[in-house]
Amino acid sequence: MDILPIQLKNLAAKLPADERVALLQGDSSSLACPDASYDQVLLFFLLHEQPEAVRRATLAEALRVTRPGGKIVIVDYHRPRPWHPLRLLMTGVFRKLEPYAMDLWQNEIEAFMPEAVRPAAIEKLTYYGGLYQKLVLTR
Ligand SMILES: C[S@@+](CC[C@H](N)C(=O)[O-])C[C@H]1O[C@@H](n2cnc3c(N)ncnc32)[C@H](O)[C@@H]1O
Repeated sequence: MDILPIQLKNLAAKLPADERVALLQGDSSSLACPDASYDQVLLFFLLHEQPEAVRRATLAEALRVTRPGGKIVIVDYHRPRPWHPLRLLMTGVFRKLEPYAMDLWQNEIEAFMPEAVRPAAIEKLTYYGGLYQKLVLTR
């Protein structure tokens, strides 16, 4: 799912044909899907693009549509180690191009999840000196 048709068009050109895959245009913060309708949800470099209210709604929707026991995998930016060689460069890139990305340097993603629906488990791994993170939530 993507909100922009051009992104879906580019993806369609790259994906091999597979009847299990459907590309949907839609808003991650307001999904037209029933509760508990997916086994797994992946949010790939999405949350850093969104203002806080939309990010919170996206996480609430991901938790809503994932069945109990299902997984939500989140891959996104993370605060790099102080010595990281790209730290200064990324700060500049975020200032110019990614105004919401710093939120993920300053907060754990868990901070944006709804109080009322907490995951049963959260596994967190970071990569490349902390520049990226992967969370695996169990619903
Ligand atoms: C950094 S890109 C990642 C694109 C793609 N997931 C990939 O891995 O190449 C972030 C994508 O999030 C999409 N996006 C931003 N806000 C969205 C929303 N509210 N609902 C759905 N997609 C959204 C943007 O259109 C953009 O294509």
